[in-house]
Amino acid sequence: MRHLLDIADLDRNDIERICERARSFAEIGGREIKKVPTLRGRTVVSLFLEASTRTSSSFELAAKRLSADVISLKATGSSLDKGESLRDTISTLTAYGAEAIILRHPQAGAARLVAEWAEAAVINAGDGKHQHPTQALLDVHTLQNRLGSLEGRSIWIVGDVLHSRVARSNIGAFLTMGASVTVCGPPTLLPRGIEALGCRVESSLDGLGEADVVYALRIQNERMVDAALVPSLREYIDGYQITPRRLGPRQLVMHPGPVNRGVELASELVGAPNSLIAAQVASGLVVRMAVLYEVLTRAGGLSAVPEPTPPRSTTPTTVRSLTPASPIGDPA
Ligand code: NCD
Repeated sequence: MRHLLDIADLDRNDIERICERARSFAEIGGREIKKVPTLRGRTVVSLFLEASTRTSSSFELAAKRLSADVISLKATGSSLDKGESLRDTISTLTAYGAEAIILRHPQAGAARLVAEWAEAAVINAGDGKHQHPTQALLDVHTLQNRLGSLEGRSIWIVGDVLHSRVARSNIGAFLTMGASVTVCGPPTLLPRGIEALGCRVESSLDGLGEADVVYALRIQNERMVDAALVPSLREYIDGYQITPRRLGPRQLVMHPGPVNRGVELASELVGAPNSLIAAQVASGLVVRMAVLYEVLTRAGGLSAVPEPTPPRSTTPTTVRSLTPASPIGDPA
């Protein structure tokens, strides 16, 4: 895999392979020394030009767990703040030998543009309302861990679909994995023609009982250029808030975070037994490790799981070379 720009870049085998690899990386988090030498000596740039907590911190930690060197930049505090162009910023960073650029940008298409200029592999960490492919991968991974397979499952994505890159990426990933997808929200927050992606569209929660998984989306106030899209918060909550009363006990709840508690999701659902929100955060780390591994090795048959770190007595930590024996096996 050269870049990861759009979930449509991946077929079902690719998604399965990345999720498998993420599963193999999970074990590293249980070790005393949570670090493996897999990407030692490789340089990764993390460039976040829009707000982020989960995505930026999990990407940075993912790169560090694989022993890559990481340069982290945000718009504020970098020379972008002084008016330097994105193109010049990218050339400066790649001059240091960066081989992967993780980019979050407020404009749709930004990651693809950078992929055209840069030698480095580009990972789209969210571009405007367009795509957020690693969120879709971590959500598939989370659901596979809980349900085994997404085949034949009904997933409802509820809320501000209009402004959501998560919705666009997740619809693609869930359908690719064999689920059926329904998007639901007030008509003003549903993009016209979205059914062309292969999902069903509903403007009320009346049929929610059929859902195996209810995926709530944040109301994205920062993208509401037209403030009149939702008549009032009260009406939104009455019509679309996911509450314990609206859910059966076997229905799972997901949300990409950050949650507006009490708006799209009743606060008590965040930590409820049927909530996968904490599992989604945990998946973010291992899935991003797997994605970094894919783009930096072009998934070339290297060992995904380096041997366990030696016991403490034999430290300092020895850096092991990569072994060709992969427990997972890469498709070509
Ligand atoms: C999402 C994003 O930034 O697109 N958050 C995230 O990456 N965890 C969703 C959101 O901000 O609502």
